[in-house]
Amino acid sequence: MIKAQNISKNYGDLSILKSIDLEVRKGEVIAIVGASGAGKTTLLQVLGSLDQASNTSECSIQIGAVDITKLSPKEIAQFRNKHIGFIFQFHQLLPEFTALENICIPAFIAGTSKQDATARALELLDYLGLKGREHHKPNQLSGGEQQRIAVARALMNQPDVILADEPSGNLDSESAKNLHDLFFKLRDEFKQTFIIVTHNKELAAMADRTLYMKDGKLIN
Ligand SMILES: Nc1ncnc2c1ncn2[C@@H]1O[C@H](COP(=O)(O)OP(=O)(O)O)[C@@H](O)[C@H]1O
Ligand SMILES: [Mg+2]
Repeated sequence: MIKAQNISKNYGDLSILKSIDLEVRKGEVIAIVGASGAGKTTLLQVLGSLDQASNTSECSIQIGAVDITKLSPKEIAQFRNKHIGFIFQFHQLLPEFTALENICIPAFIAGTSKQDATARALELLDYLGLKGREHHKPNQLSGGEQQRIAVARALMNQPDVILADEPSGNLDSESAKNLHDLFFKLRDEFKQTFIIVTHNKELAAMADRTLYMKDGKLIN
């Protein structure tokens, strides 16, 4: 499903990622842990094509059948929209849009009709236990609800993988547990693949594999 090889990233003289390899199977939930500043966010951004490796010509990042390091910027943007879902620590919902509209945005970018996008978004809202919240703006929702809206947005185009960067870092423990349970429910019911950067020990313990980021390397 995902096979990344030889990813390196430098900022000037600072070597943040040192020839990282990572393979993830479909339906696997991978947790990445490590100290602050270890390079976890950088790795996730490179895997998700939001950032580039420093050695693009020598590395490969295969997602499904496609090596995203070989795509043009335009192709990358299209690929990202259709195949990769993102969840961030701070939900990053657009404040002036409703929950329903926020969830629909990735579908609109992909060219889905308003009718089809709305139908799928309502299905997702229902599935995530957010029925009745569709016309709320983000600031009218609790932190846990906002994060579940962000999950719905990530799921909208049925991505190959969801990349989550400290998704429960800003939640109380009960909302965090609900969110973690939701990830595993999505994995069990839809074989959704996840790579999750987290400081949460319970989440790391639930994951199929936990990888430690240290000195620019991923250690089992
Ligand atoms: N745009 C940037 N320019 C320079 N240094 C950066 C940049 N982004 C991140 N870094 C540095 O890279 C290191 C890893 O950062 P990051 O990936 O955010 O770590 P983590 O998510 O594990 O806390 C840090 O030392 C950080 O200061
Ligand atoms: Mg980080």
